[in-house]
Amino acid sequence: MLKKINIAVDGTAGSGKSSVMNEVAKVLKMNFIDTGVIYRAFTKFCVKNNINFFEPKEIESQIDLFSYKYINENEILVNGEDYGPYIFDYDVVENIKYIAQNVKVREYMVNLQRQMVIEKNNIVIGRDITTVVLPDAELKIYFDCSVEARAKRRFEQNIKNNILPNVYEDILRQIKQRDDFDKNRSTGPLKIDKGAWILDTSNLTFEESMKVILNKIEQI
Ligand code: C5P
Repeated sequence: MLKKINIAVDGTAGSGKSSVMNEVAKVLKMNFIDTGVIYRAFTKFCVKNNINFFEPKEIESQIDLFSYKYINENEILVNGEDYGPYIFDYDVVENIKYIAQNVKVREYMVNLQRQMVIEKNNIVIGRDITTVVLPDAELKIYFDCSVEARAKRRFEQNIKNNILPNVYEDILRQIKQRDDFDKNRSTGPLKIDKGAWILDTSNLTFEESMKVILNKIEQI
């Protein structure tokens, strides 16, 4: 019988952390929590409520109105409404930085995410999971990957999921901007925790990444 653990995972946008770790979670029968989806859902909630993203107070006024429930990869409920189809929308990508840099939103997100993992057996993915949300996780992983390889993967994913507009140069620009923003914001920035195991997936296939991670987990 495997011991119950929490695995904290951070990494750059499009590094493969969500898709690879989702599959790892299925193999190991662990809960999979992608915190990026929660930030995206909250951003879309603000878009739908016509919030002015330049006004932090307006953003903060939405926190108490927001109720999030993850059903599965395709069904994400916000106040009972399915947000699954919206989480990769362009208006989400463009505005998420205003959400992610808001101190009160981050406080709310960190508390929400900690409540979700009170019982162990979770894989939690994000930007501040190894450093802020779950610094005591039994395994901490940092995913990285070259910008070009990540843009290519997102472009191909968009084709598969019929997401438009889908322009490689725009995706590349957005990923660079997001990296820069995620690494340089003052609250909850993306950084490599000193206890994290670093995995560079630039030259690894999906299956190869799975294999090295499953090997690593087995050692724990
Ligand atoms: O992982 P994903 O690309 O879906 O995340 C979308 C955005 O949400 C990130 O670029 C980041 O700004 C924000 N995020 C965050 N902290 C997390 C997860 C996501 O700031 N734990």
